Amino acid sequence: MFNLASLVRGNIKKLSPYSSARDEFSGKASVFLDANENSLGSPLTKWYNRYPDPLQKKVKEKISFIKKVPIEQIFLGNGSDEPIDILLRCFCEPKVDEVIIMPPTYGMYEVSANINNVTIRKVPLTSSFQIDLEQLEQSIQPNTKIIWICSPNNPTGNSMDRQSIEMILNNFDGLVVIDEAYINFSRQKSFVADLNDYPNLVVMQTLSKAWGLAGLRMGMAFASSEIIQYMNKVKPPYNISEPVQELALKALDEIGQVNDMIKAIVDMRAALEKDLMNIETVEKIYPSDANFLLVKFQDAKALYEYLLDREIVVRDRSNVQRCEDCLRITVGTEKENKALIETLKSFKQS
Ligand SMILES: Cc1ncc(COP(=O)(O)O)c(C=O)c1O
Repeated sequence: MFNLASLVRGNIKKLSPYSSARDEFSGKASVFLDANENSLGSPLTKWYNRYPDPLQKKVKEKISFIKKVPIEQIFLGNGSDEPIDILLRCFCEPKVDEVIIMPPTYGMYEVSANINNVTIRKVPLTSSFQIDLEQLEQSIQPNTKIIWICSPNNPTGNSMDRQSIEMILNNFDGLVVIDEAYINFSRQKSFVADLNDYPNLVVMQTLSKAWGLAGLRMGMAFASSEIIQYMNKVKPPYNISEPVQELALKALDEIGQVNDMIKAIVDMRAALEKDLMNIETVEKIYPSDANFLLVKFQDAKALYEYLLDREIVVRDRSNVQRCEDCLRITVGTEKENKALIETLKSFKQS
């Protein structure tokens, strides 16, 4: 049986969180002498002298409208990397608890667990990059707190089979975190719509990919209000700065343009795939639901260096298990994709 109270670390359950001046006053006032800010303002801009809203209410209202999730079920972080770390700190007792990751996958689940001194069990994806349910079941221990699922997965690009994810959600008594950083580029349905069915579900998304705002640093986690409350307890009080909140508010109004852009990127992904098929050194292009392609070459390392010498940077994944001789290529602009293809055509295998 899933029991959130028994999953949370004892010290976090007991924790009295920091209460900021902005937490303690939320009414209407014209004189603010409660937060030791500089009332004169900065010489550079007069208006960033105040602390931002710790719980980012206005941004969450917009996200709530777009995603159809109540505000209390939304957490905002400094990129998705912040909720990854905060979930570990809320639920995993260092040196005692465990998490499961399924490589090849996004590297921060492992790094963040290592930083928090939390043991990692690895259940590699199958040769078709799907979840190995049998191995997963055998790897779950009484102290396994989190299973990380990345769908669509980085670096492979494919989505995980929905039935497998549902099977895990229905049978695992810890948290199931589904990282949907690339979901907008896929035809798969987001698990955000299923939050009410699964008390153990956390869905992560980000403004870094489809929204085109990797430099802004805003990640989202959606879960039950009880899980979000624990995450809010642990986060730094002002984890999203005022300019970031302002820009996010403006950006979230542009959903029409973002949808057009997603369509354009998906079309360019298909065109890039087609062009890559005609390149001699390409051995395999893996199907992608994301804004990148994982491509197997005859000699990825040599090709990677060749591209670098011509000022084209792709991601060398050839040292990653199951991605031998693979490069991960982000879909660029039409001009960038053309430059890549022309350069690949000029490469002569030695
Ligand atoms: C699967 C996945 N999750 C999360 C992130 C990080 O996103 P953010 O920029 O929101 O920290 C990445 C970045 O590449 C990613 O591939």
